[in-house]
Amino acid sequence: MGQFIQDLVEKNQHQATHLLQILRIVQSRYHYVPKDAIEQLAQLLHIPRTRIISVIEFYSFLHLTPRGQYELLISDSITDYMLGKKNLTAYLSKKLNVAVGGVREDGLISLDNTSCTGMCDQGPAGLINGYPLTRLDCTRIDVITDLINQQTPLADWPVELFQVEDNICKTGLLLEQQIDYGAALRTAFRRGLQETLAEIDKSGLRGLGGAGYKTATKWRFCLEEHQNVRYVVCNADEGEPGTFKDRVLLNSFAHQVFEGMTLCAAIVGAQQGFLYLRGEYLHLFDKLQSILDERRKSGLLGINILQEGLNFDIEICLGAGAYICGEESALIESLEGKPGIPRNRPPYPVTHGYLGKPTVVNNVETFLAAVNIAVNGGDRFASIGTEKSKGTKILSISGDCSRPGIYEYPFGTTIQAILKDCGAVDVIGVQVGGPSGTFVSNQEFARTLAFEDLATAGSFIVFNDGRNILDIVHNFTHFFAHESCGFCTPCRVGTLLLKKQLDKIVEGHGSAGDVVLLEEICQIIKKHSHCGLGQTAANPVLSTLERYPDVYQSRLKKISYEPGFDLDGALETARRMANRNDAGAHLAQLGEDYN
Ligand SMILES: Cc1cc2nc3c(=O)[nH]c(=O)nc-3n(C[C@H](O)[C@H](O)[C@H](O)COP(=O)(O)O)c2cc1C
Ligand code: SF4
Repeated sequence: MGQFIQDLVEKNQHQATHLLQILRIVQSRYHYVPKDAIEQLAQLLHIPRTRIISVIEFYSFLHLTPRGQYELLISDSITDYMLGKKNLTAYLSKKLNVAVGGVREDGLISLDNTSCTGMCDQGPAGLINGYPLTRLDCTRIDVITDLINQQTPLADWPVELFQVEDNICKTGLLLEQQIDYGAALRTAFRRGLQETLAEIDKSGLRGLGGAGYKTATKWRFCLEEHQNVRYVVCNADEGEPGTFKDRVLLNSFAHQVFEGMTLCAAIVGAQQGFLYLRGEYLHLFDKLQSILDERRKSGLLGINILQEGLNFDIEICLGAGAYICGEESALIESLEGKPGIPRNRPPYPVTHGYLGKPTVVNNVETFLAAVNIAVNGGDRFASIGTEKSKGTKILSISGDCSRPGIYEYPFGTTIQAILKDCGAVDVIGVQVGGPSGTFVSNQEFARTLAFEDLATAGSFIVFNDGRNILDIVHNFTHFFAHESCGFCTPCRVGTLLLKKQLDKIVEGHGSAGDVVLLEEICQIIKKHSHCGLGQTAANPVLSTLERYPDVYQSRLKKISYEPGFDLDGALETARRMANRNDAGAHLAQLGEDYN
């Protein structure tokens, strides 16, 4: 092991910023990170061993104790459940003779759940040693079981087990035009870089990763910082359950995405870029590396790009199973080889980003759109969409519909029109924007896809009237409790309490007072959490409490009150208490009372 670690560290130029990438490789070789490896890494990288341990403990794909030689993870997205995940996991566990969360006695196999793997259009899905398994069913599980028991190397497994389809169902402005390699850069150099930034400004392009910040403004802020080192980061963490459009863009439009990053570098004056690729998309890694090589050979990356004096290159860094690393400041921490804990903002990454330097962070789709604008001009883009949401949005559609996949729509399209296209019938509601987004009931399908109305990074999960609202909320609430990074109390304790409180109600043990307490916990998490994860973690409960109070009521245990007892008054008092200032202490007290 000593020589292996030594070579690995040398290959990573003794950079502590590469710690996460190094640990990923150690994990994949030994199926955990052995104590001796930690000691040696601490010495070679000149960092405390406690820092290495904190990184291993933070990321769900890294372990301090051995996992199986075949590490099998099953996706926990609501869509996987809708496709029969629960029974399949039980079948798998029985066939392989291993408990969920455990390692088989012979050490050959471990089995566990993992948050959404980004395959909601072809689930139930899982990962085996990091590589995706799609469309799991009993037949496939029988094959997988035999392959594991015969200790067949993954390279010899049938390729169809790993097949990942793009499922592009509807194209628009961005997806219908394959732009020639280098076309956007050549046009931008010919037109002038500042003139190209003006086109992006004119287009009205807003970030397509969720928050919708104006792209040209972000790039201009970075450009205006008085620093000689700047970075460009493409956020391909795509961890929001139900989102998978970036997976498709990186599989079929990677040249354009890399070109968008290079265009941004030319405009803002950056020399180094990073593609932060979620660990679940390991299957794309080699292909993306070869596209980068191709671009270097074609003079589109590296030194003196297109003979225009631009020096810029891109490195791909893999995540390791932490949804919070999609948040841009957590992502930067992760790129620096640390646990992905969100920073205080301001300052924002655009002034104090990677290694404290100005850094543009944009979503995959935003870079794709920037390339389109550089080639076609801003007016064309701006002519589509609504007043405050220009251009188009690529959706990842999954759930109860006959054609799950990728759909591109002009902003302003109604939910009704989208449901018709994807073959959804008898719909009770749609979750727009993933668990942190909005549950849109079937009374609201005239609402539109737009920053003014329903903003989304792209997740669009359809539920038909056979689904139980509380099962959906239960899944989302468990997701947030699992993915909370644990840094701040309102989110760390609050998401856990929320989960327990909801479980109590879902299991039929709750009273009316428990629903009030549920709401109270929601308000505290929402108001007092440090970052966007906590601030939106209560959305699924709050939005369904508002739309479907009867569904919650129907699960409550029957209690008879004394004649004359003022139930409404008691509930109101509890509500008022929820608006207290000492939220952290109050939450801790609630936790103690609860336990
Ligand atoms: C919990 C959390 C997770 C996020 N995950 C992603 C993600 O996976 N991809 C993404 O582009 N943005 C994600 N974001 C938003 C980023 O912080 C950031 O706004 C975005 O990358 C900026 O790119 P854009 O302007 O092109 O949208 C997330 C934000 C939060 C709070
Ligand atoms: S809100 Fe949650 S995810 Fe965000 S910093 Fe606090 S604990 Fe971490």
